[in-house]
Amino acid sequence: MPDILKNYSLRDLNTFHIDARAKYYCLCRSIKDLQELISDPVFLKEPGLILGEGSNMLFSADFDGLVIRPGILGREIIGEDKHSVQIQVGAGENWDEFVAWATTWNFGGIENLSLIPGSVGSSPIQNIGAYGVEVEHTIERVFAMDILTGQKLTFEKDACRFGYRDSIFKGSWKNKCIITSVVFRLAKHPELKLGYQQVADKMAGMDRQDVESMRKVIIEIRESKLPDPDKLGNAGSFFKNPVIAADDYDSLSTSFPEIPSYPAPAGTRKIPAAWLIDQCGWKGKRIGDAGTYEKQALVLVNHGNATGRQMLELAKNIERDVEKKFGVKLKKEVNII
Ligand code: FAD
Ligand code: EPU
Repeated sequence: MPDILKNYSLRDLNTFHIDARAKYYCLCRSIKDLQELISDPVFLKEPGLILGEGSNMLFSADFDGLVIRPGILGREIIGEDKHSVQIQVGAGENWDEFVAWATTWNFGGIENLSLIPGSVGSSPIQNIGAYGVEVEHTIERVFAMDILTGQKLTFEKDACRFGYRDSIFKGSWKNKCIITSVVFRLAKHPELKLGYQQVADKMAGMDRQDVESMRKVIIEIRESKLPDPDKLGNAGSFFKNPVIAADDYDSLSTSFPEIPSYPAPAGTRKIPAAWLIDQCGWKGKRIGDAGTYEKQALVLVNHGNATGRQMLELAKNIERDVEKKFGVKLKKEVNII
């Protein structure tokens, strides 16, 4: 039976570095640990929260229940053919260490997702994405455990219902299963994804056109735009980029001709929330220790001792101003606990 620790500090377990505590905390290193935990009286009595590396979470208060950290490790090649390799990775592995390992072996498909914080087990949950790639394109299946029965579950890719920052794990399976491992299929002869102009420009200056160079380029771009959570608490983009009806976009662009946008599913258009927030004058502003990053208005930052409630208050002000100016409702990407 894994240890259940009491009154556990979560300050170093969330990238906002919010000083919250969990009534109980349990690190599970195997499926057996998880199966044992769910018959423990503490699990049966207390509300539960699954915590990866806390890089997409905001604790608005202490958690009055049991925080479960799936710490299952391991990375194994389970199949291969002429073109690709199939790799099963434990949910507790760090995402970027997996990307680094894959690029060293010249396995392609996830290099554009370099330096995204968090665990492998969380990567399917919001279908992590950056620089023209979403993780769904490399996921073959997801293994999980039913939190009530302890039964092992398999979600083939289609059953995961991936979308923009979305999946079934944020929908009907939210808090009902614990992802234990993910099976990826990566290419042995990778094709580089150069859709982003900034990425293409920087790659043009690289000697080698391979996934390792791509990883370097992506890391350089990300480090120039996003704050390092170890130095300045944050959870990446706080809101999703709004996807609005094409008609609404047309009327917005009549009032604001300079509004940037990206293609989205038919009949819709995606607009950068960072631009909307920036235009409302929030970039680099702060209320006490809760602020927005000086180089990226969509990233809310904790300058030191902000509480979760203060971060939420700032978010509320931003939502209000964006809706007033543009008539667009922002939706949070970060999970509020
Ligand atoms: P957590 O924040 O711990 O949890 C996220 C959610 O998943 C919670 O609901 C939690 O309950 C659930 N969960 C966690 N593990 C499991 C599990 N094993 N089984 C079931 N449920 C689970 N995201 C992007 O998509 N693209 C980016 O470019 C990006 N850039 C970022 C940059 C910075 C600086 C930061 C801080 C964050 C960024 N993010 C980005 C967000 C974040 O990295 C991802 O959402 C990441 O996948 C979260 O992983 P985590 O392990 O920290 O999850
Ligand atoms: N912009 C501004 N002001 C700013 C920042 C940006 O006006 O302060 C405008 C610019 O026009 C810029 C546009 O917004 O071209 C988009 O900005 P950026 O390229 O930085 O990307 P983003 O849309 O803000 C998204 C993801 C990021 C991902 C990057 C790169 C969402 C919610 N965010 O950010 O993901 O890394 O693209 O692909 O989709 C995350 O999810 O946590 C995250 C960081």
